[in-house]
Amino acid sequence: MKRPLRSSPRSAKPLRTVSIIGTGSYLPKKILTNADLSRMVHTSDDWIITRTGIKERRIAAKDENTSDMAAEAALKAIEQAKISPKDINLILVATATPDMLFPATACFVQKKIGAINAACLDISAACAGFLFGLEIAQQFITSHTHDTVLVIGAEKLTSITNWTDRNTCVLFGDGAGAAILRHRGSAHGVISTHIGSDGRYSDILFMPGGGSRCPITRDNVDLNLATIHMTGKEVYKQAVTAMLNAAKKALEQAGLSIEDIACVIPHQANVRIIEAIADRLRIPLDRFYVNLDRYGNTSAAAVAIALDEANRSGRIKPGDYILMVVFGGGLTWASTIIEW
Ligand SMILES: CC(C)(COP(=O)(O)OP(=O)(O)OC[C@H]1O[C@@H](n2cnc3c(N)ncnc32)[C@H](O)[C@@H]1OP(=O)(O)O)[C@@H](O)C(=O)NCCC(=O)NCCS
Repeated sequence: MKRPLRSSPRSAKPLRTVSIIGTGSYLPKKILTNADLSRMVHTSDDWIITRTGIKERRIAAKDENTSDMAAEAALKAIEQAKISPKDINLILVATATPDMLFPATACFVQKKIGAINAACLDISAACAGFLFGLEIAQQFITSHTHDTVLVIGAEKLTSITNWTDRNTCVLFGDGAGAAILRHRGSAHGVISTHIGSDGRYSDILFMPGGGSRCPITRDNVDLNLATIHMTGKEVYKQAVTAMLNAAKKALEQAGLSIEDIACVIPHQANVRIIEAIADRLRIPLDRFYVNLDRYGNTSAAAVAIALDEANRSGRIKPGDYILMVVFGGGLTWASTIIEW
């Protein structure tokens, strides 16, 4: 059963439906394997695979910035969407690793792809950022504010990784994914979105240094404050609960049941988290798209890369209902259902 379109009695024009007309992704060439990591910290291939499912991750080159990876992914999405960069009205870059604190990484992307007619801003919602971006894009498009929105999730997490902390350094990788959203006449496309946060848990996954509260100083850098800090077990617990609730919310809003979903694209953090969700939602694991074995956790880029891979490989087909569900530091969580 399809969810009826939301309507607003006060809007002069009817609300519009939104669809994804192109996707793209980019992964840096350099691969860091578990065997490589076992030569850097006290860990093993077996431990990392058993506890996380990750086999290898990509590492951006020193001079390869978040905006470079974002622009590469964007250009692929633009090509698939058969539009010109000049058609884009808004660029949203979800990232926890911006090129600089300001200006927005979206501005650097704008310059690189020549999207001269776009307004640009970054979204800070950690690993949930790409789906926050889809929700924001949808709101702008349905309200007739913008026609064509480029949403990107891009991260250079290896720039904020503490390479001496085995609890975190085995988990993360770099990459970018992008999608172009545009209004369309039918009820297809993005049919349900949900976003949420709980700041009470802001201290279980965070980077204390680099902002105004704890600026970059020699001492702070020596104390590894400008790197990822995480209480793994607590994050794990919260992640399962948050993703389950978010998935249920999106299904409820869409008027769909889990049996209607052809493919679940979850945040790619840990295969055990994905297995726990599959178990509790009572759907077979093979209905989940999983690529974390190859890329690790690329935060805001993760579901964007997975969506592009699922699209280009034919894993998702026209008419399929796709559920995307994510969580991240903040805490933040989000879910989106798309009719492909
Ligand atoms: C990080 C995570 C994989 C750890 O798995 P876990 O089963 O909870 O493991 P624990 O934290 O209980 O650690 C168990 C032991 O392994 C050790 N360990 C941690 N990392 C290790 C590594 N890379 N290699 C070997 N041993 C490691 C710990 O030090 C601990 O040893 P101890 O018992 O002697 O103290 C897991 O908690 C997790 O995935 N959490 C969510 C993280 C996440 O998704 N973050 C991103 C969110 S967007």
